[in-house]
Amino acid sequence: MGIKVHETEKQFHLYNSKLSYVIGECRDGEMGQLYFGRRINENQIIYGYQTLAGRPLCCAVTDDENYTKELACLEYPAFGNGDFHGPAYEIIQPNGSRVTNLMYDSYRIYEGKKPIPGLPASYVNTDSEATTLEIVCIDDVAKIEVTLYYTIWENYSIITRHASIKNIGQEEVKLTKAFSCCLDLPDYDYDWMQFEGAWGRERYPHTRSIEKGIISIESMRGHSSANFNPFIIMKRKNTDEFQGEAMGINLVYSGNFMAKAEVDNYGKLRFTMGINPNWFAWPLASAEEFNTPEVIISYTKNGLNDLSQNIHGFMNNNLVRSPYKKRPRPILLNNWEATEMEFDEEKILNIAKKGAEAGVELFVLDDGWFGKRDDDYAGLGDWYVNTNKLPAGITGLAKKVNDLGLDFGLWIEPEMVNPDSDLYRAHPDWVLAAPDRRRTLGRHQMVLDFSKPEVVDNIYHQLYDVISKANISYIKWDMNRSITECFSQNVAPEYQGMVYHKYIFGVYSLYERLIQDFPDILFESCASGGGRFDAGMLYYAPQAWCSDDTDGHERVKIQYGTSYGYPISSIGAHVSKSPNNQTGRSMDADDRANIACFGTFGYELDLNEVSEAEFEQVKKQIVFMKKYRELFQYGTLYRLQSPFEKNIASWMVVSEDKKQAIVVMYKTHKTPNIGMETIKLQGLEENTIYTVNGKEKIYGDFLMERGLGTMGSDEPWYMSDGDFTSRMFILEA
Ligand code: GLA
Repeated sequence: MGIKVHETEKQFHLYNSKLSYVIGECRDGEMGQLYFGRRINENQIIYGYQTLAGRPLCCAVTDDENYTKELACLEYPAFGNGDFHGPAYEIIQPNGSRVTNLMYDSYRIYEGKKPIPGLPASYVNTDSEATTLEIVCIDDVAKIEVTLYYTIWENYSIITRHASIKNIGQEEVKLTKAFSCCLDLPDYDYDWMQFEGAWGRERYPHTRSIEKGIISIESMRGHSSANFNPFIIMKRKNTDEFQGEAMGINLVYSGNFMAKAEVDNYGKLRFTMGINPNWFAWPLASAEEFNTPEVIISYTKNGLNDLSQNIHGFMNNNLVRSPYKKRPRPILLNNWEATEMEFDEEKILNIAKKGAEAGVELFVLDDGWFGKRDDDYAGLGDWYVNTNKLPAGITGLAKKVNDLGLDFGLWIEPEMVNPDSDLYRAHPDWVLAAPDRRRTLGRHQMVLDFSKPEVVDNIYHQLYDVISKANISYIKWDMNRSITECFSQNVAPEYQGMVYHKYIFGVYSLYERLIQDFPDILFESCASGGGRFDAGMLYYAPQAWCSDDTDGHERVKIQYGTSYGYPISSIGAHVSKSPNNQTGRSMDADDRANIACFGTFGYELDLNEVSEAEFEQVKKQIVFMKKYRELFQYGTLYRLQSPFEKNIASWMVVSEDKKQAIVVMYKTHKTPNIGMETIKLQGLEENTIYTVNGKEKIYGDFLMERGLGTMGSDEPWYMSDGDFTSRMFILEA
């Protein structure tokens, strides 16, 4: 890993064993993109790939008629000077001009990486893990200094990027767009993969061809959203799970975002991603600086599994910060689907007690423990215990749960308020609401104005009071509606364009304070299920509730899709009751568990209500998960067969030393009288013999070349069992 500087040509070649990323000065002094792809020799100086001769209707920006920005690949392009694509940033200057032109000024290289103030970002554990290049560019007329940050990582095929924009003039300017990255690529022979959905069906992969014109996804909901995830893959047309070139771009941000691919009629592809410029306007006073969120750009020549494994490793090692980093996650039992808000202490303790008997490690009390929270019309904002339900308070309940041998966890939804709450009655101006307009409700609640520090402070003190007085090991932080009427009351008009971003700053700051105060607590983020499952959140909460849809069949698709951009250790997955609350579908307890194992694992039901036989299954599942959870959560994941393409889906995890692997196969529908189904495995040691489920002994190469079939004398399960069934295969070397 390193950065080779060609001083005379002002070219910078960032490289590690897998990738090269080369940028350099263009003819007019702006920074250009020269190469991004497989590692090439860093001594190569790149000439002649940038300066295409001027054409009719292209504009020369210097006296050099042959140089036009329209044809050049640029690093952080501006508006208004001959590059007619969407710019990476836009600044309105005091005279109203938006024209800017950034010229290369200087660079700095250092070992390690600096944090981004107030924002989540990847970090180094030791400086030798990464090298950072800062390129300073200046617009002398607009009096703007932009620093482009690039970090190249030693152990991952990854580059991280962000930009900071500083006003070096005397007068205030206004930033109306500030993307985190721009990738100008010389051809557009790529497919675009987005991860889309809605509540209950989050992050389904969807692939479309990149073509001339623009394709784009975004969120304007105030959170990253279940609708489009802030993660994009651009892959070559022939790339599949096992081979081919692809790049993944994760935005480390939880608010409004945009990702966009623009292809011009010369075939140049511009990819930009960052904070959504819609309704964004950030005043920058003299000497003030704005930092964009970071993007994680991963690269592979070896298919989508390799791309995902690279992202998983990087997130586990260099993004997640909790003491639970790389630690097996506790097996929890959550009462939400069992009781919703109708509970008292006795009912809760009964559920917890049965969980303890089954071997669960952590009991989580979900929504309904505070204020006048008997239904979702009241209580949010009032973070003091409802003693009608819980006479011993959270402190007393936590103690009783601890006495059962379980850790205790608690649900909160800090960003929200119900109109029927003491907080709202006292501070109606603390919600986001436009003057003289209807205050739109979502789930009967409004969004607190987290752009205001005093609002965040109030919630912090209320929560601190509860958390500090009880033995709490885990917090589930929920967020159950999108932002409407995004207007901060009683502040200057100029402030309004900052609100969405400041809101997310408020969320991050509250997380940070609670993490600093209670460093041992495990946080799980949640937003009506998976409505804010993004790399920004993972910096604070190492796991995220993946979806409110706990139906095993639906979970196969949701978790499969999520795994493209996020590690298994981050995927909150629970076994819930059958028939399922969301879909009414029935599945055997072991089939439900086989899917939840590929996640943080837990239960979301009242175990007192399951049959004795099912309770025995649960006990065995917990023993099994305790034995193998490290492998599930931190092993190398291979997606083998997609549930979006076939009736049988399959994926597997392999231990680092390749001595253990677990494969799951899942069938949607039983099809009678079909041929042999085998699944070719991945990642095994070729000449090692693996025992499959303690019986058959098969060489790794055979399992990878011919595949895993129906073992031994078993009747083929995909013909004998019913619909929505699965099989788990444990392979031991
Ligand atoms: C959201 C969450 C659920 C549960 C409820 C409580 O929907 O996703 O898991 O916590 O809120 O109101």
